Amino acid sequence: MLVSMRQLLDEAAQGGYGVGAFNVNNMEQIQSIMEAARETRSPAIVQASRGARSYAQDLYLYHLMLAATELYPEIPLVLHLDHGNSVETCKSAIDLGFTSVMMDGSLMPDGKTPSSFEYNVEATRKVVEMAHAKGVTVEGEIGVLGGIEDGHGAGLDGLSHVTDPEQAADFVAQTGVDALAIAIGTSHGAYKFAKKPTGEVLKMDRLIEIHKRLPKTHLVMHGSSSVPKELQDIINQYGGKLRPTFGVPVEEIQLGIKNGVRKINVDTDNRLAITGAIRKVFIEQPEKFDPRDYLKPAREAMKKVVAERMTQFGQAGHAGDYQPIPIAEMAKLYAAGK
Ligand code: G3H
Ligand code: 13P
Ligand code: ZN
Repeated sequence: MLVSMRQLLDEAAQGGYGVGAFNVNNMEQIQSIMEAARETRSPAIVQASRGARSYAQDLYLYHLMLAATELYPEIPLVLHLDHGNSVETCKSAIDLGFTSVMMDGSLMPDGKTPSSFEYNVEATRKVVEMAHAKGVTVEGEIGVLGGIEDGHGAGLDGLSHVTDPEQAADFVAQTGVDALAIAIGTSHGAYKFAKKPTGEVLKMDRLIEIHKRLPKTHLVMHGSSSVPKELQDIINQYGGKLRPTFGVPVEEIQLGIKNGVRKINVDTDNRLAITGAIRKVFIEQPEKFDPRDYLKPAREAMKKVVAERMTQFGQAGHAGDYQPIPIAEMAKLYAAGK
């Protein structure tokens, strides 16, 4: 059974830990996350972007996730839509069986033009109404991430649309979202910072202020890959051409977790781990051509990163803490105003 993200995040808030949300596009990435979750006994959030849904096809993705629930019954598992760009996209995910959706109304449906506050409230409120009626969780976003590497961001330095605490409070009151993504200077992809960011570059004070203003709202950090040098080095050692770059230090994420961050989005670190492992096989064993010879090490490399993050975020050891609440039951709880 796929469970509600709201339940996972409520439990995380109670336990004072964060939960990584890892992007997937294929079977191997789902397998990596599930193995890491089993090894560390972690609840798990698997998320798919619009690009992932179109690459894998909705039904393949959904049935792979159902297989994961059967193979790993001890893991509370969420299927979340990452960066839904419109009410229709969120609706199609809910209809398919996603148990959580993100309505990213901070941007217009093109994924790069910053929207108005009114547009964001309107679109997000519609999704909340539709989703909660089915027990599905909703994440909204206020403020805009930088970068355009992946088509979700305003293309600026990440500091041009940092979240305003008052506007965040207004947004939560008007929409009823379960979780709120905030912009504090991060962007998607590998090229976030030219040097290791300080807590000031990352606007951690702003995050703390938002948490004080909204102590009951689960905060979400996007663009939270740490882009470890070791992973960059493996890629470059085996013929890759990554420019030197820095991601979000794990210590800053841990400070966020102490201040209301419950969901941490990570995609790039896993992409780097997979690519490094595949490049290594290609260079060291050029005679190989069975995809399993490079996909197995790739899967193992991603599992290692995910297990490390699950431990660092504090979700490790919490898989068995609670009984999953069925989505239909969640719908009743929302209807009763609980
Ligand atoms: O938010 C961005 C995630 O890394 C997903 O990226 O849209 O290229 O699948 P994508
Ligand atoms: P990264 O590119 O830092 O992994 O961020 C992923 C993300 O925010 C997905 O929504
Ligand atoms: Zn994101």
